[in-house]
Amino acid sequence: MGTKVGFGIIGAGMISGFHAKAMKKSENCYLVGVYDANPVAAERMAKEYGVRHYQKYEDFLADPEIQAVTIAVPSGLHGEVAIPAAEAGKHILCEKPLEITLDKVDAIIAACDANNVLLSPVFQSRFSKPVQLVKQAMQAGRFGRMVLASAQMRWFRDTAYYSGSTWRGTWKLDGGGALMNQAIHTIDLLIFINGAPKEVFAFSGTLTHSIEVEDNLCAAIKYRNGSFGTIEVSTSCAPGFPRRLEFSGSAGTVAFEESKITRWEFANPLPEDETIINELFGPVNAAGGRAPMNISSDGHAMQIEDLADAILTGRRPFLDGREGRRAIELICGIYESARTGKPFFFGS
Ligand SMILES: NC(=O)c1ccc[n+]([C@@H]2O[C@H](COP(=O)([O-])OP(=O)(O)OC[C@H]3O[C@@H](n4cnc5c(N)ncnc54)[C@H](O)[C@@H]3O)[C@@H](O)[C@H]2O)c1
Repeated sequence: MGTKVGFGIIGAGMISGFHAKAMKKSENCYLVGVYDANPVAAERMAKEYGVRHYQKYEDFLADPEIQAVTIAVPSGLHGEVAIPAAEAGKHILCEKPLEITLDKVDAIIAACDANNVLLSPVFQSRFSKPVQLVKQAMQAGRFGRMVLASAQMRWFRDTAYYSGSTWRGTWKLDGGGALMNQAIHTIDLLIFINGAPKEVFAFSGTLTHSIEVEDNLCAAIKYRNGSFGTIEVSTSCAPGFPRRLEFSGSAGTVAFEESKITRWEFANPLPEDETIINELFGPVNAAGGRAPMNISSDGHAMQIEDLADAILTGRRPFLDGREGRRAIELICGIYESARTGKPFFFGS
């Protein structure tokens, strides 16, 4: 194996540029080539980055210089491209959601396990500074007994965002709406920081867009650690606002919006709290709340670097398939509650 991992990208649409740019700057990997079912899109991207493009998926998979792939096709097609990639021995960085049902997620995980390739589902927000700091505070027991862990995503997507796409806003390929597509990062962070869910109850509706899936959803959640929370998500709230998470325990509360901390208070303050407050308080950018391209590429760059380093050194990636499955399990439970009008209970 070379000193850098050769990557290929499958799907040359909106998010693929974030991956390609990160690979260009990477110390551990480089972009070899691109495949898209639409050859024009693949050729355009290949020209922009000075890399190969392929007419057939088989040719892409047969390129020995490609050791790992980014999957950036519509969400409900991730399995269809991931499983052959795993069988061809490629390590996989798969855009969120890993897939849109638990059965399809499990099939990807099983294919990666069977072929001894690494799988890293993209949840770039886990790499952000506030998230890392809150997670550390939680692991250190600074919150005391956890009582509330809630999230609010009041975002805006215009009509063209859905009407200009063949797959967004459909059950078959998006797998859901504001919750599955946009809020999945927020859901992942709730679980990453506060642990597994026990029970949910949800309402959902399509209030302002002509789409099959929900553009607004509200859920109440009980976690396995006994704490409660609310989850509010929307793509109808013009002009779009920063997403917000808040964690409270008997000994402290932390809130953060995008990459800024807005509350950091503990009953037992530590000297480093002042540094955190000085460095991470400040004006909050609405970021992805207003348009999908507004997100920072820093998180993608860190996750790509992590997977490439894991491949080169033979370790597990920071985030693996089973971790990526957890948010989808919670999302599917929330949808089931909204559909049946009954609480949904998660197995142990
Ligand atoms: N991590 C994030 O914050 C983030 C942000 C946006 C999108 N995404 C995810 O990235 C994925 C792609 O989203 P997008 O906005 O770039 O979509 P997009 O519609 O802009 O691009 C998808 C591309 O995939 C191609 N494609 C479709 N079927 C294919 C197939 N079978 N084989 C090869 N190519 C195929 C299309 O031609 C298109 O070029 C989705 O799963 C989405 O949820 C993640």
